[in-house]
Amino acid sequence: MKYGTLYGVGVGPGAPDLLTLRAVETLKHAQVLALPRSSDYGASMAWKIIKPVIGEIDGQERLFLTFPMSKDPERLRAAWAVAFREIGERLEKGLSVAFATEGDPSLFSTFIYLQREANDRWPGIEVVVVPGVSSIAAVPAVTGIPLADGQERIAIIPANYGVDDLPEILAAFDTTILMKIGSEMPNILAAIEKEGLAEKTVYVSRATMPDQRIVRDVRQADKEYGDCFAMAIVSKKQRNGILAGDVKSSQKETVNDGA
Ligand SMILES: C[S@@+](CC[C@H](N)C(=O)[O-])C[C@H]1O[C@@H](n2cnc3c(N)ncnc32)[C@H](O)[C@@H]1O
Repeated sequence: MKYGTLYGVGVGPGAPDLLTLRAVETLKHAQVLALPRSSDYGASMAWKIIKPVIGEIDGQERLFLTFPMSKDPERLRAAWAVAFREIGERLEKGLSVAFATEGDPSLFSTFIYLQREANDRWPGIEVVVVPGVSSIAAVPAVTGIPLADGQERIAIIPANYGVDDLPEILAAFDTTILMKIGSEMPNILAAIEKEGLAEKTVYVSRATMPDQRIVRDVRQADKEYGDCFAMAIVSKKQRNGILAGDVKSSQKETVNDGA
């Protein structure tokens, strides 16, 4: 059977002008837009981002799919059963389906599961990933905090799966990004304060969206609870640039990697 192409399209962190040209082209030409949302009544963030750019397109279907914000496998399985059925019916008719995801489709995104299952469900199907501007690029941009320089190391943590090992992570990495904060902010704050890193931590919600909020005194973020689009960035380094420090002779040849 010849299936329609399945696209996973990253639509960026919030600001519609951070959609890539490729994302816009793909979204405009797909016959079906699959738009995830967290409840049957809630808005789809992906649709909110792309709507001002692509608007209504004649003949294009918008398929809203509900994926509850839950770790309960039963609830998730039920949601996925509907999503696979709805998407599958369209792919089997040869229609192209663009599944739009906030940020980048390869980082903590609903699309990852769809991508993994696609070939088993629809053998031989073409799956195309269109990368997007991730929140891990947007948050450094709006805060002015670079992610990493030279030999620095970065950790990315899904905080809602626990932060018991945060002290070890903070010790081992120069920059730590805490995503999916959920109800973990008090625990994150406690660990950060214990390590003496409160001054080096910034809380950001909804980066690049109209209601973006940046809390530079992170102790003031102790009451933050449940914003689906919030992260904290801990940046330990005081960067003076590579020219300020001593560089071992073996490293001198590789410091300018052209990146
Ligand atoms: C399910 S993950 C999706 C990540 C997305 N695929 C990406 O590339 O950014 C959702 C988490 O990403 C982070 N996030 C997404 N958009 C954000 C934004 N605009 N500002 C701050 N954090 C954001 C938050 O930590 C949120 O809990």
